[in-house]
Amino acid sequence: MMTRRDALKKTALSAAAVSLVTLPETNFAQAAAPTGPFKLPPLPYALDALEPHIDAKTMEIHHGRHHQAYITNLNKAVATDAKLAGTSLDELIRHLDEVPEAVRAAVRNNGGGHYNHSLFWQTMKKGGGGVPKGALGSAIEKTFGSFEKFKTAFSDAAMKQFGSGWAWLILEEKDLKVVSSPNQDVPFVHGKYPLLGVDVWEHAYYLKYQNKRADYVSAFFNVINWDVVTSRFEKPEL
Ligand SMILES: [Fe+2]
Repeated sequence: MMTRRDALKKTALSAAAVSLVTLPETNFAQAAAPTGPFKLPPLPYALDALEPHIDAKTMEIHHGRHHQAYITNLNKAVATDAKLAGTSLDELIRHLDEVPEAVRAAVRNNGGGHYNHSLFWQTMKKGGGGVPKGALGSAIEKTFGSFEKFKTAFSDAAMKQFGSGWAWLILEEKDLKVVSSPNQDVPFVHGKYPLLGVDVWEHAYYLKYQNKRADYVSAFFNVINWDVVTSRFEKPEL
């Protein structure tokens, strides 16, 4: 019986063969349907819920335009192949090597953008912040020495990410780690599972903070939804 992964691989191979045929650009443009399997998830709170830390205008543009653009472009990429269009976002992200080369970069960038932003909205809330309790709080203290030391490590990763990207708290096998990633790359392969990420693309903060990324990252700690992060820590999908 063919597994979904096998099916995707088979599709990738046949699509790779097809991609050797040069199609006129107009054909590709016509194939780019305006709709597709991926939809913009609604924000779990009002646009102004994270004020004053993250302003409503930034949220409106970030969610409604930037996140939507990743979804639109992801839908265009998967529209090139029926099997791809039926593959979940998690599967696409985890098995990029099985995505046809012709659309792999588009899936990596736009699928990653969709995944990262969907998680980002969920891990913030009105009146968030504070210190995580329970097993996650204990694991952070054990790994980093204290919550403050974790905060410093996470903030440093956010500041040192050159250009656009993300800083992350991830679970790698059973260990907590702070890492960063460029562009929309997702730390979601080979036993890695993202728990919390902060978007350090300028579109995430420039309207309110201009070039002061450190102030934005500091403010982000006031809106973190630790309940969601703790839930991901307790039930990781490794
Ligand atoms: Fe973003």
